[in-house]
Amino acid sequence: MNMFDLTGKKAIVVGGAGDLGKSMLEALVEAGAEAVVIGRGERTKSISDELSKKGYKVNPVYAELTDRAQVDKSFEEALNILGGKVDILVNAAGIQRRHKCEEFPLSDWDDVLEINLTVSFRYCQLAALNMIPKGGGKIINVASLISFFGGYTIPAYAASKGGIAQLTKALSNEWAGKGINVNAIAPGYMDTKMNVALINDSGRNSEILARIPQHRWGTGEDMKGATVFLASDACSYVNGVILPVDGGYLGR
Ligand SMILES: NC(=O)c1ccc[n+]([C@@H]2O[C@H](COP(=O)([O-])OP(=O)(O)OC[C@H]3O[C@@H](n4cnc5c(N)ncnc54)[C@H](O)[C@@H]3O)[C@@H](O)[C@H]2O)c1
Repeated sequence: MNMFDLTGKKAIVVGGAGDLGKSMLEALVEAGAEAVVIGRGERTKSISDELSKKGYKVNPVYAELTDRAQVDKSFEEALNILGGKVDILVNAAGIQRRHKCEEFPLSDWDDVLEINLTVSFRYCQLAALNMIPKGGGKIINVASLISFFGGYTIPAYAASKGGIAQLTKALSNEWAGKGINVNAIAPGYMDTKMNVALINDSGRNSEILARIPQHRWGTGEDMKGATVFLASDACSYVNGVILPVDGGYLGR
């Protein structure tokens, strides 16, 4: 028996066309799941096509997540494609905005909180409504090291990711007894476009590298093991955890 096998499982990956989201999506289908990727833009389709060509079952559903009606509609469309059930939900859509705290525009604050926190909560609700009657499922939110630290110039992101950690625990408390494992992955400093500003700032870059015990930035590939674990029977008694995938950063 392979407790990490996801054959026959149906997954919805919100933001699965993003740098980390794509790796999480790949991890699920490589482990046997069928998936729908929800997102916007050409990449949503091109990534579905790329994985379909490799023989995996992946379909795209388009949604502009700033529009709450589209969030609900996209979930319904995804469910239809998956035959009316979802076993695994991954919330990997996210945005970043950087300004000094005292100058941080409220419009950016609203955008970050909406996408990073509210949209994730809504997809969790929609997934749970499908999962609870059939005995359970797995929900994986994407937190951050900034769920633990405040960072600099990213107050909205810090509030949203602190919120994701607390939301994960709150949902877990109510849904663990209903068979849903709600957990989060907290990626560390990852070599992705979200971090271009930090990677290109040689001072910050060397400060960050000096603190990572593995002495390297993380990659999408590094997300795969934790994703399969939290999507599979292997995590059946793991609830409300914020699992760092950070090369040891938090332990310093
Ligand atoms: N990249 C990192 O270093 C890092 C570190 C810690 C946590 N995270 C978190 O991991 C998650 C994934 O990050 P990523 O690096 O893959 O980011 P990314 O920018 O590559 O991907 C984010 C995805 O969200 C989608 N998205 C954003 N706003 C949207 C909207 N309004 N409508 C539809 N889709 C929208 C984007 O199209 C994209 O596919 C995010 O929650 C992020 O905060 C990333």
